This record gives sequence, C-alpha cells and structure tokens, in this order.
Amino acid sequence: MAIEKVGVVGCGLMGSGIAQIAAAAGCQVTVREVNAVVLEQGLQSIDKNLQRLVDKGTLSAGDRDQIRGRLHGTTNLEDLKDCDLIIDAIIEQLAAKREVWTALDKICPKHTIFASNTSSLSITEMATFTQRPDRFLGLHFFNPVPVMKLIEVIRTIATDKKVEEDAVAFAHRVGKTPVRTTDRTGFIVNRLLVPFLLDAIRALEEGVGSIEDIDNSMKLGCGHPMGPLTLLDFVGNDTTYYIANIMFDEFKEKRFAPPPLLKRMVLMGWNGRKAGKGFYDYSDPAKPKPISLA
Ligand code: CAA
Repeated sequence: MAIEKVGVVGCGLMGSGIAQIAAAAGCQVTVREVNAVVLEQGLQSIDKNLQRLVDKGTLSAGDRDQIRGRLHGTTNLEDLKDCDLIIDAIIEQLAAKREVWTALDKICPKHTIFASNTSSLSITEMATFTQRPDRFLGLHFFNPVPVMKLIEVIRTIATDKKVEEDAVAFAHRVGKTPVRTTDRTGFIVNRLLVPFLLDAIRALEEGVGSIEDIDNSMKLGCGHPMGPLTLLDFVGNDTTYYIANIMFDEFKEKRFAPPPLLKRMVLMGWNGRKAGKGFYDYSDPAKPKPISLA
C-alpha cells in the first residue's frame, strides 16, 4: 500500500520533526495538537528548521514553500480521517495514548495504519485499544528527527507482515534506515543505550571521573558525537529516568535501575538542556559548564 497521507498526533520536539520529514518526502501531512498555541509553536519550529536549510543552501525557497504547502495543522482529530498512516508522538502516558487511539480507531477507515513513536510503552498494549491490532506497530524516531538516520520498526505478535513492509517502505521514503525489531521495552536502541547512560551516572557517583572527563572519554576515545552526560541532558534526565523505570519494571535487571543521583536531579528539576540545567549549566547555551555536585 502506498502511504501518501500521513497524520501526526503531537507537534512537540518529535512530532514536529516527523511531520517535517514526511512532508519533505512528498506526503500530505496533517499534524494535530491539543490547542492552537502549542500547534503554532510546533509549526514555527518546523519553519525555523526549514529556513535554516534554506540559509545553508541545502534547500531552495521554492522547495521549502512546497513542503510547507503539504503540511496542515489542526486541533481536531477528525481531520486525520483520510490518512493512510497515523503516527502518535504525544506524551508518554498510556491513558493519553488510549484516548487518542480509541478515538482514531472510530474515525479512520479500515486501511489506516496506526504507529506509535513511543520509546518505552508497550506497542501491544496500545494495539489492544483498537479493533485493528493487525494494522498497529511502532515507528520509533530519534532526536533530532531531521538528522538521525534510524527508525526502529516494531512489530507485535499480531502485526500483519504486509503492514510491517509498508512501514519499512515508508521509513525508506522519508530518507531513513529502518531496523526491524519486536515489542520488548526499549526495543534495540534503548536496550543498549539506557544501561550505558545509567552507567555513566554511576561512574560519576563513584568518583571514577569528572563530568567533563567522562564525556570526553567516550567522545574522544570512542568517537561518540556526544558524551553520555551531555546526551542525558539532550534527551532529558526526566525522560531517561522515566524510560529506565519502565525497563526496570519489565526486566527486573539491575542494569536498568535508575541510579540515586538521577532520581535526585529529576526531583530538583535539573532535567537537562530544556530546563537550563542538568549535568551542565546552560545559562550560556553556547558554553555549557559542568555543574558542581556536593
Ligand atoms: N534539528 C535539525 N537539524 C539539526 C538539529 C535539530 N535540532 N540539531 C543539529 N542539526 C543539524 C545541523 O544543522 C547540522 O547540519 P549540517 O551538517 O547540514 O550543517 C548537523 O545537524 C550537525 O549539527 P551541529 O554541527 O550543530 O552539531 P553536531 O555536529 O554536534 O551535531 C547532533 C549535533 C546531530 C545532535 C550530534 O551531536 C549527535 O548526533 N548527537 C547524538 C544524538 C543522539 O544520540 N540522539 C538520539 C537520542 S536517543 C533518542 O532520541 C531516543 C529515545 O528514545 C530517548
């Protein structure tokens, strides 16, 4: 099945990126937010991203206008009724996901594929909110969506093979490399990444090295684009804490247990770059300074 019309629920950091790349790939995209103010913020961030590409000379002004012309914002879920594929990128709360998927299941025709961008919730559980578990799967994108090349395509035990193939074709169409995986919390990337990030915090707690030295070790010693503590700030300490707890709950393995320091930083609201403070202080965003820990 050719996917031409795409719906995106949520126009935050991930949803706006997904909407942008789908429109850039030639799809008609309708993106839905809960109110006009949040929707406008999301669309403005897409405009800013597209303008940056025009300024760099990698996108013509004409192509930018065409991409923008394929992007439609709405606050009404009903406007997603004609979509071939709908991707949810809303808050990681099962109750909120249930509300959206139950409503969309009633609104959308039988052929519409439902996909969640969740990084930690069960795709299988979300599929049970609908009458189409065979047309439900996960499409997990990475931040920043326009830059990161990977999409995890997550099938459940009920996902139709053809639906998985359509999702893989869609991933190629939006210029990404798909990897196939099954519905186990964390999928492939977070199963490997989360214990690594948590271990970096444990190393800091145990005095193995300073914030900068731990980051530089992985950047310069292993060629990672960001050190683990910088990446934690980038992803959001609250987000990693939330994912780690869900993974620990699922597997009951120590490597997924959030270290005490992470919990205390989240309690303080030191959630990373978006909060202005995490393992680094972002008072001057161009020159983050490592925080001192008592
Ligand atoms: N949106 C769009 N483009 C962006 C961007 C954004 N938010 N941030 C950076 N870019 C673009 C820049 O414009 C630049 O493009 P050109 O090469 O065409 O000029 C390119 O990305 C590189 O950016 P910079 O030179 O400014 O900075 P950098 O070289 O340090 O790269 C980075 C920035 C791409 C974020 C890089 O540091 C990186 O890859 N970091 C790791 C990110 C990562 O691991 N993400 C996954 C997080 S885990 C996750 O998302 C899943 C989960 O479930 C938690």
